[in-house]
Amino acid sequence: MRILSGIKPTGVPHIGNYFGMMRPAIDWQDRGEAFYFIADYHALTTLHDAALLRKYSRGVALDFLACGLDPEKATLFRQSDVHGIGQLTWILGTLTPMPMLENAHAYKAAVDRGGSAGVNLGLFAYPVLMAIDILIYQSHIVPVGRDQKQHVEMTRDLALKFNRTFGETFTIPEPSILPGVETIRGLDGQKMSKSYNNTIELFSEEKALRKKVMSIVTDSTPVEAPKDPASSAIVDLYGLFATAEEVRDMESRFRAGGTGYGDFKKQLFEAIWSYFEPMRRRRAELEGDPGYVDRVLATGAERANALAAETVRKVRSATGLG
Ligand code: TRP
Repeated sequence: MRILSGIKPTGVPHIGNYFGMMRPAIDWQDRGEAFYFIADYHALTTLHDAALLRKYSRGVALDFLACGLDPEKATLFRQSDVHGIGQLTWILGTLTPMPMLENAHAYKAAVDRGGSAGVNLGLFAYPVLMAIDILIYQSHIVPVGRDQKQHVEMTRDLALKFNRTFGETFTIPEPSILPGVETIRGLDGQKMSKSYNNTIELFSEEKALRKKVMSIVTDSTPVEAPKDPASSAIVDLYGLFATAEEVRDMESRFRAGGTGYGDFKKQLFEAIWSYFEPMRRRRAELEGDPGYVDRVLATGAERANALAAETVRKVRSATGLG
C-alpha cells in the first residue's frame, strides 16, 4: 500500500500543519510505503521570492524530520525534483472540465478575497497539479485534512476519466480524512492558517512562543467571573497537548471563576513547550549536520523519480505522445 501526502512550503510549520498533516503522516509511515513531499510548485502559486521559497522548503523538511519523520521508512522529497509533474499536469488538464475547477473551494475563496484578477492560472489549475502529485506515484491512500477532501475527490474523478479514455493507467486513490483536524483554531479563534496570520509555530524561541500564546484573543470577562470553556480557543488548543483529565480540570476551573485568562494561557504555553521539547532537541542535532537535509531530499528524489518515470512512460504511450 502506498501512502502519499504533501505540504506547501509557504511559511514556517505551525500547530495546524503539525496536527493536520505532519503527525498523521508520521503515524502512517509504519503502515505502508509512505511518500511525503514538499509542494514547492504549489507554493509558487502565491509566493514569488526565490530565497524565501528555498528557505521555507528546507525548513519544512527539517521540521518534519525533527518531528519524527524517519527517512528510512518514508520517502521525503521536493515536488520540483520529480521529472514529469509538469508534463502530466498538462496532459490531465486536457481532460479537466472548466466547471470542475470553477467549483473548487480554494479557487472560490481566492475569488471572494480579491476577485478573479488576483487568481493566476497556476492557482486555478491547482487541483490538476495536485491530482498528478497523487497519481504519478500510483498512490492508494492520501491522508489529508477535511479542507483537502474535495481535491482528492477531483483526483479520483480525473483518474477515472483518464482510465476510461485511454485505458487502465492510474490507481484510484482513497482519501483518509483526519477527524477533528479542521477545528484547530488560531490566535483569533478562526481556523489556524498562515493566510489569517494567526498561527503558533512549532519551533519558535521560548520568548516568542510565550508572547504568541499570551496574544490569544479573549473576551473581557473579569478574573473572578465564570468563563465559558466551550467557546475558548485556549481550551481547544490545550486539548491537543493535554490528557482528557487535564482538559476536564481546565474546563472546571473556567466555569468556577477566580482564574484569569492569562493564567490559562500560561498553562497552555507550558503544555506546548514541553510537548515539543524532544523534537526541539532532535532539530538542534539535525541542524548540527548541515548536509543532512539535502542528503535526505536527494535520496527521496531518486526514489520518487523511479516511480514517477514508470507512470510518465505509461501515460505517454497511452495518449499517443512520443
Ligand atoms: N494542497 C495541499 C495543502 O494545501 C498540499 C498538497 C499538494 C497535497 N499536493 C498534495 C496534499 C497531494 C496531499 C496530496 O495542504
